[in-house]
Amino acid sequence: MKPWSFLHISDLQPGSPRSYRFNQAMGENADTAYKQLGEVEDVDLLLVGGDLTRDGAIHDFECEEARDRLGSLPYPFYAIPGNMDTCNKHTSVAGATGRDDPRLNVTAEQLDHFALFFGEFPWSFVHKEVRFSGFYGAVAGSGLPHEERMWRWLEDELPPAGETKHHVMVMHYSLFIDSVYEPTWGLQDKEEYGRWYFSIDQPHRSRMFDAFKRSGVDIVLSGHIHCRKPPETVDGVRFYRCAGIAMPQAANLWPDGDTRLGFYRFDVTEEGISETFIPLEKESTAEGKYGPGGHPHPEDRDYSLAWEEPPEEFRT
Ligand SMILES: [Fe+2]
Repeated sequence: MKPWSFLHISDLQPGSPRSYRFNQAMGENADTAYKQLGEVEDVDLLLVGGDLTRDGAIHDFECEEARDRLGSLPYPFYAIPGNMDTCNKHTSVAGATGRDDPRLNVTAEQLDHFALFFGEFPWSFVHKEVRFSGFYGAVAGSGLPHEERMWRWLEDELPPAGETKHHVMVMHYSLFIDSVYEPTWGLQDKEEYGRWYFSIDQPHRSRMFDAFKRSGVDIVLSGHIHCRKPPETVDGVRFYRCAGIAMPQAANLWPDGDTRLGFYRFDVTEEGISETFIPLEKESTAEGKYGPGGHPHPEDRDYSLAWEEPPEEFRT
């Protein structure tokens, strides 16, 4: 077998100076990542683990830009949504941060909007005897038709183990923080809110993990946390918590966490699949920014702040 390679990147979320908010450093870090991605020629494909945009659910222009930039790379890309492209995992109660979490529950419209620009998901395909699959686990517990679709895909449609030597699964939220068997983190506990925000709740986590094992998944790539952790193997499944691009985050989540920005290259050989971390050549120190952070209410969106003229429908 001739060795070959693929890339994985996540959490670019550059935003736009045409938006009601912008952070110049996040935009510049995405520029650096796209430049470095464009210089890689000897890979077969790119996996994009969500958060391609900062406010993609309300700005078509951010989705168009991400699609055009990814589409002009010298290899094909396969993307799943993140919560910045759509919205968050579901909860019926507000968390400890004062944020109105139930208002941020992902909707069917947001999920369908992402698919308009980046294609249907979940997806699964085989390339050179490696199966690649991607889905948006945040729909678990939502009751949306997309949740039913996800479980059917995970449990009935993915082929059983043994079909290919490797099966690489791409997701946005991390399946777990410290242990795949940990209980659901408490969003109403200030200490635990971040862990809840980054991970998949029980019982969905165990159900997904069982589906992964049934389908021979041996590598899981997740983003969302923007802090990289050395890969760890549970029941034969190797979990990579991947770096971010826009900005570092969650520096204190793990003692062995690494918040350097960058992406992974994976090399496939007879011996297996091995990773190389490619750090961004430069992490922006630009300080320019305006508008709110986090997940602002619609009434807090003031497009008159924009550094460049927004599209007509957003002009105030
Ligand atoms: Fe995210």
